[in-house]
Amino acid sequence: MLKRTLEQGRIVTDEALERLLPPASQYPSSIHQAMRHSVFAGGKRLRPILCIEAAQMIAGWVPSGVEELGAALEMLHTYSLIHDDLPALDNDDLRRGRPTCHKAFGEATAILAGDALQTRAYEVLASLQCSAEARVAIIVEIARATGTIEGMIGGQVMDLEAEHTRADAQTLEYIHRAKTGALLTASVVSGGLYAGATHELIAALRTFGQNIGLAFQIVDDVLDVTQTSEQLGKTAGKDTATEKATYPALFGIDASLAKADELIAKADAALDPFGRRAETLCEIARFLVERKK
Ligand code: IPE
Ligand code: IPE
Ligand code: MG
Ligand code: MG
Ligand code: MG
Repeated sequence: MLKRTLEQGRIVTDEALERLLPPASQYPSSIHQAMRHSVFAGGKRLRPILCIEAAQMIAGWVPSGVEELGAALEMLHTYSLIHDDLPALDNDDLRRGRPTCHKAFGEATAILAGDALQTRAYEVLASLQCSAEARVAIIVEIARATGTIEGMIGGQVMDLEAEHTRADAQTLEYIHRAKTGALLTASVVSGGLYAGATHELIAALRTFGQNIGLAFQIVDDVLDVTQTSEQLGKTAGKDTATEKATYPALFGIDASLAKADELIAKADAALDPFGRRAETLCEIARFLVERKK
């Protein structure tokens, strides 16, 4: 059942991305090739899947056009990965099992490909097929989640500044909630907004998203230590080498996984108001901590 949900979500998202991104042959083609190189490299598409499932839980069916919202989230996520891998940030050569964007296309094109995925994402968001009110709320939600105040960029800044510093638990939690948790939360919340959820249900979705978001980055840190580069499709052991602020570095692997489990239990509890309709989201939440890549 879960396998089917993940597979279907991936297919629907990839079809939307294929439709919404300029073809590789479109002039000027180098930038479109670079965008597609990173987008179509086999990501898990977890943010679109979470978004679509949240929308389905609220509406009772998959609202038409929600896959375009999912695709925009994936464009923003991929932009964050391209920039995360740049020499000035994490300096990585391998992503999604391929050479990173700057390795394949050069740094200038990689920077611009990240920028271009971001601007295209907002163009897609501005044309979403929901009410104008929901559309604006979704854009605000996502812009904040990727911004500097408790958003993705704020988290990335602190992640870089915390290298080699033995950051404390509070700073570490801020980094993880901001750099990764915020966009995952916005994925769930924007799905709810698209489906017309009430303020109360949005609050429940937000609590769910915040808990799975932190758990997700804790597990990303653990996998960096326990898996190989081949398994991950990205360079393993990178965090230790650069003395990143991570959960396993501060607490050890077992305590980190226990913390992730605790967060998933909290996430599940937040969806109590939805009863059995929350089953799929809870299954995905469990998958986020049990995944091997
Ligand atoms: C990796 O995210 C970067 C983080 C935010 C930890 P994913 O593990 O979702 O990467 P893809 O999209 O499947 O490649
Ligand atoms: C990345 O965190 C978070 C964002 C891209 C915003 P990491 O630096 O841990 O991600 P990976 O391990 O390179 O995928
Ligand atoms: Mg990083
Ligand atoms: Mg990185
Ligand atoms: Mg990582």
